[in-house]
Amino acid sequence: MTLILASTKLWWYVSRSAGIVGWALCAASVLWGMALSTRALGRKPSAPWLLDLHRFLAGLAVTFVGAHMVSLMLDPFVKFTLGDLLVPFASTQYKPNAVAWGIVAMYLLVAVEATSLLKKRIPARLWRGVHLTSYALYAFATVHLLTAGTDRFNPVLRWTVLTSVGAVVFFTAYRLVGPGRAASVRNPKRASAGAAASVGSDEATSGH
Ligand code: HEM
Repeated sequence: MTLILASTKLWWYVSRSAGIVGWALCAASVLWGMALSTRALGRKPSAPWLLDLHRFLAGLAVTFVGAHMVSLMLDPFVKFTLGDLLVPFASTQYKPNAVAWGIVAMYLLVAVEATSLLKKRIPARLWRGVHLTSYALYAFATVHLLTAGTDRFNPVLRWTVLTSVGAVVFFTAYRLVGPGRAASVRNPKRASAGAAASVGSDEATSGH
């Protein structure tokens, strides 16, 4: 422990672990949202904690991604400035393409979280449009993990990524051609107006 604390690699370890936990929380939140919206967990998510968990996972993801970025600035080896963290390709010192995926994913995460917090004050269409970019957020963060990360060859991490991608594909198929599609077709109001139908049904079908 003392060795790690004294090591100049401390912030690098913090950044790597925060990045991995941040990615896992993004993946878990997307999957939980899909499980709720496809009604794979039942006809209607009745228990409030099901939706709260979806929100909580996303909120925690923001915290860990923040820690991932701050620790990159504190790492004395690769010296990222604030501009390097916020502007894709501003820095060329470490895999600029791989890092750019992470920066775009971070903006999407912030947009999804901010619009979810402001949900009651913004048009439902806007909220839904931004919320759907969660799929791109998950994809970009996953490409970032598989291209930027030191641990990208770790078999446990690779299997975790593969399992989560498989789950996203499963829920997508469930929604497009399985019982999830039937649920939305049976409800023409929802099919035509999407999440704008009502705040109540919105919350029940789409997560935040
Ligand atoms: C949603 C946003 C983000 C997520 C979920 C995320 C997640 C991750 C993950 C899982 C890794 C792999 C860690 C490892 O294998 O050890 C990683 C690495 C990295 N990320 Fe991010 N990241 C995000 C945003 C960013 C941003 C905005 C930057 C800005 C510069 C960034 C820079 C880096 C760098 C430099 C590495 C390589 C660290 C290393 O392994 O040496 N990431 N990120």
